[in-house]
Amino acid sequence: MSTEYKVQGDIAVITLNNPPVNGLGFTTRLGLTDGLSQANADSAVKAIVITGAGKAFSGGADIKEFGSPKAMQEPNLLSVILAVENSPKPVVAAIHTVCMGGGLELALGCHYRIAAPGCSVALPEVKLGLLPGAGGTQRLPRALGVEPALNMIVSGEPVKSEMLAMLPGQKLFDKMASSADSLLAEALAYAAEVAAVRPLPLVRNLPCKHPQGDAYFQFARNMVKGMSKNFPAPGKCVDAVEAAAKQKFEVGMATERELFINLMWTPESKALRHIFMAERAASKIPDVPADTPQRAINSVAVIGAGTMGGGISMNFLNAGVPVTMLEMKQEALDRGVATIRKNYEAQVKKGKLKQDKYEQRMSMLSTTLSYDDLKDADMVIEAVFEEIGVKEAVFKELDRVMKPGAILASNTSTLDVDKIASFTKRPQDVVGLHFFSPANVMKLLEVVRGAKTAKDVMATVMTVAKKIKKTAVVSGVCDGFIGNRMIEQYGRQGGFLLDEGCTPEQVDKAIEKFGFAMGPFRMGDLAGNDIGWAIRKRRYTEKPDMKYSKTADLLCEKGRFGQKTGAGWYDYVAGKRDAIPNAEVVKMIEEHRKVLGIAPRKISDEEIVQRLVYSLVNEAARILEDGIASKASDIDMVYLMGYGFPIYRGGPMNYADQVGLFNVVQSMKRFAQNPLDDSKFWQPAPLLAKLATEGKTFN
Ligand code: 3HC
Ligand code: NAI
Repeated sequence: MSTEYKVQGDIAVITLNNPPVNGLGFTTRLGLTDGLSQANADSAVKAIVITGAGKAFSGGADIKEFGSPKAMQEPNLLSVILAVENSPKPVVAAIHTVCMGGGLELALGCHYRIAAPGCSVALPEVKLGLLPGAGGTQRLPRALGVEPALNMIVSGEPVKSEMLAMLPGQKLFDKMASSADSLLAEALAYAAEVAAVRPLPLVRNLPCKHPQGDAYFQFARNMVKGMSKNFPAPGKCVDAVEAAAKQKFEVGMATERELFINLMWTPESKALRHIFMAERAASKIPDVPADTPQRAINSVAVIGAGTMGGGISMNFLNAGVPVTMLEMKQEALDRGVATIRKNYEAQVKKGKLKQDKYEQRMSMLSTTLSYDDLKDADMVIEAVFEEIGVKEAVFKELDRVMKPGAILASNTSTLDVDKIASFTKRPQDVVGLHFFSPANVMKLLEVVRGAKTAKDVMATVMTVAKKIKKTAVVSGVCDGFIGNRMIEQYGRQGGFLLDEGCTPEQVDKAIEKFGFAMGPFRMGDLAGNDIGWAIRKRRYTEKPDMKYSKTADLLCEKGRFGQKTGAGWYDYVAGKRDAIPNAEVVKMIEEHRKVLGIAPRKISDEEIVQRLVYSLVNEAARILEDGIASKASDIDMVYLMGYGFPIYRGGPMNYADQVGLFNVVQSMKRFAQNPLDDSKFWQPAPLLAKLATEGKTFN
């Protein structure tokens, strides 16, 4: 049973005990109704307190049960809340730390609520593509007022209990406890105080109206529409709260129920629930137990104060960790520091950072030209030129000066981390930390595990990633790691699409309509087309069997490297990022087609999207087979956090699962007929073929 039942004096205490956050899964719900029955049957009990053990009152419905019959198995949450409301003896919710979703809905069903200060209160269902489905949209507006309740429901953001207690006329909290420590004692005293009160107060009986009625809801609907674009849930939240303000309680409850059930089956909600789990799963490494001892990281050194070194340093300064940056020349250090200053000053100007915080962060940054000044750092991250000889020189120096046990990390994007580790006498301390540009902004961090990287190093860097607010995903050592290995195939398809009849604009528009932040050609212009060119030149000798379109090479031969040269697949006006189609580029593509003897064909948006997305999926399946990623959901996180894959589609693997792997394989077999690409790429990866045959999914 995931609850505890105790009687203290003449008060029964039901404690939710379902770690980590007292999710209201089946056994917890059963424990609650059993506890209520027991308390009501016991004549010695005068009132009942419901509270939560550990670090939450309750985090809400058990997300892991969603989609399974258990979620609705009686007693479901609605039935539990009804049983609480109908209890003949008063029920007091003693709320602390976290009171969210179904947890708050449960509390709203209680006759009284006492809260500890500092408790995070929220109806975060919208973040899972849902709306509160156990009366939250009907009771919270009655307890708090329509506007504050709608704001909480539409945003899903937590509000501190003491802030809510200050809202004029609020009926959410009957009492604030003086501290979390004294909450239970104060709740017991309060339960004794109200034990004899009859009739028992119910939130459902409170009035609910908005003085501006229709006009307010129209305004709310317009606001939400602008913000929620591809997500249906926020708009439905407005509908449900409007029902609370305009209909009888029971009618509003029925409206909420219908909207909730419909949202539960939307691909958007499935994607968001998948991401919630995937994000948490990414931080777990199968063979590195959660209790692996970790190394203390209280200071960091960064080698190279260029584009990446500066951004990486900012992450640590933001988290309050002192940083020492090392360069070869004073001017390079000065430039690096000036860029960091400029970035912070822009934040101060926009009101995103307070002046004193900015100064505090800069005071934690020091610079040096001497490796000897790094000897006490707990971790060093190298971000120098991408040349193996330069890396070798740097890592030999680091091996010489760094204290024993220091973590030696490289931000290399293409080089072999095992080779870099071999330049030291301590390969167990070496790991890849592949940040994405701009490193102070992008959420993704690929943690590259070398063959010899120690488990405690892995455990430590995963914690460090959390501290600097990155989503870390573990990758094995291979060319391009997870993200760039996949993007190469996506880029290759983009090239063939041009040769077969598309313009860059057509390809970009199709995939942007699908939801990508940027199509492959706009992305190439942003990153620099010369980077892909350099990689292809290597591939022509390394992998002669892999076919590439030569169109991108022709573009680079014209010096059209992208935004940095003012011209790439598109033209750019200085200081602006708008991509302007260029007739010469289109002509260049057409002429190359003629040379290849290809008659252009009209290619549908559907084919463009399938070829780009399924190329990611097929390579990802191989990445899983090779053990480079340990789970499909990690690959989804890489693409969602680092490559602009649409959130509401849940990542490439989740998307493929939703389309159905059988259908994905059928499309690949069609694409395999393409005479331009005879490199067998479209043969479905064995893992994908197997899952498709067995009717299974990646996740
Ligand atoms: N159900 C099941 N497990 C949950 C959960 C929930 N509602 N909320 C969190 N967890 C689990 C996480 O999966 C994680 O598990 P793990 O240790 O195995 O990885 C663990 O709790 C800790 O989670 P976090 O890493 O997120 O811990 P934090 O301390 O950073 O945050 C939290 C705690 C604020 C509760 C955060 O987890 C959170 O926001 N949870 C989601 C809450 C939510 O969305 N509730 C609404 C559910 S839907 C609902 O109630 C429907 C109803 O209206 C009918
Ligand atoms: P950059 O050219 O902007 O900066 C490199 C800096 O390292 C320069 O300031 C240079 O003076 C300094 N440097 C060179 N040799 C040095 C040495 N021996 N000792 C000390 N400092 C030295 O390069 P950028 O873009 O910051 O890249 C750095 C690393 O990060 C590379 O390995 C790159 O592959 C990787 N990376 C780059 C990304 C990007 O988008 N720019 C993304 C992810 C990784």
